[in-house]
Amino acid sequence: MYNSTVLDHFENPRNTGEMSQPDGVGSVGNPECGDVTKIMIRVEHERIADVRFKTFGCAAAIASSSMATEMIKGLTLDEAYELTRDRVAESLGGLPEKKMHCSNIASDAIRAAIEDYRQKSEK
Ligand code: FES
Repeated sequence: MYNSTVLDHFENPRNTGEMSQPDGVGSVGNPECGDVTKIMIRVEHERIADVRFKTFGCAAAIASSSMATEMIKGLTLDEAYELTRDRVAESLGGLPEKKMHCSNIASDAIRAAIEDYRQKSEK
């Protein structure tokens, strides 16, 4: 059902765990299944300097979070904000159609973390 890239990111997820004092945090639940992803970002000079995630979810959600965090490292906040689930799924070599909804939460949580950072930095 899953290709080898998805399985690799599921079995050896990159950038997992907590981050101490992140600059932005985004937690998003998947309305279709109740699974949750939390993304924590460190921002330097308007770029994603570091990122961590914690996902309570299926293999596709974990692999998508892992790939998405790899993809946004070093990007500007605007670039990271534009990351779509389709690009994440593409980088994973594709996801089964019925698991595409699982790739939403990673990019949604990244956007939520960026919005959290922007809100905090306006204060
Ligand atoms: Fe919930 Fe995949 S089944 S994120």
